[in-house]
Amino acid sequence: MGECLDKIFSHLIEIFQLGSEIGGALDLPEKYWPQPGQYLPCQRVADGSDGLPTHLFRVVGTPDVLNLAPIPQKWSPGDRLVCAPPQGHGFILPRSAQRVGLIPFNVSPARLLSFAGTALSHRAAVSLFYDPPLPADWLDRVPSQVEILPLASLGETPDWPDYLAVDLELSAIPELMDRINNQDLHCEGQALVRTDMPCRGLGECGVCAVHTRRGWRYACVDGPVFPLAEVLYVAG
Ligand code: FES
Repeated sequence: MGECLDKIFSHLIEIFQLGSEIGGALDLPEKYWPQPGQYLPCQRVADGSDGLPTHLFRVVGTPDVLNLAPIPQKWSPGDRLVCAPPQGHGFILPRSAQRVGLIPFNVSPARLLSFAGTALSHRAAVSLFYDPPLPADWLDRVPSQVEILPLASLGETPDWPDYLAVDLELSAIPELMDRINNQDLHCEGQALVRTDMPCRGLGECGVCAVHTRRGWRYACVDGPVFPLAEVLYVAG
């Protein structure tokens, strides 16, 4: 490992299947570990260019290992990687949060489960609202303290969470609005809005633009975690 300006070198030390994605562990110095919701721009050194086109997110794992996904298919354990420091805004759990809801909406729960550990360390109760039923191979990855519930149950107890964390694709925001009634939700929340980020803010290409209550924002620099009310407001 080594550092050069804002480039950090590390290795992919193992890979594993994570639902339909490949996850991997990196031997990156801990001070460069992305927080849940932030992303790590990187690429294989062997691939040559300087674009750092791969964006890795923190995923479920033990606190002492940096697990990230999605690892590109052609990467292998032992590959030397070059990365930039973590970028964007991640999830921030309010100090007062005691009942935390996680909604991986039509996506893998891997990223939000990396945040579950943060909530549990704050002694918060955590519920994972997930449709359809979680596949068996995921159940081992969910901490035993986390309750798994269908998303519809949130509509029956909208006052339960005092903080909601959502993970979804940009295109899925209107569908989420169809599934939950934001008029009934009175809690704070944040949403990891995932979309293509080809220049990760360097060239201001605009590809990652997200329509928010405050106007257009770039997921690569203003997000990818946004206040939930700012993105759901627009869809509503
Ligand atoms: S990725 Fe180009 S502006 Fe965000």
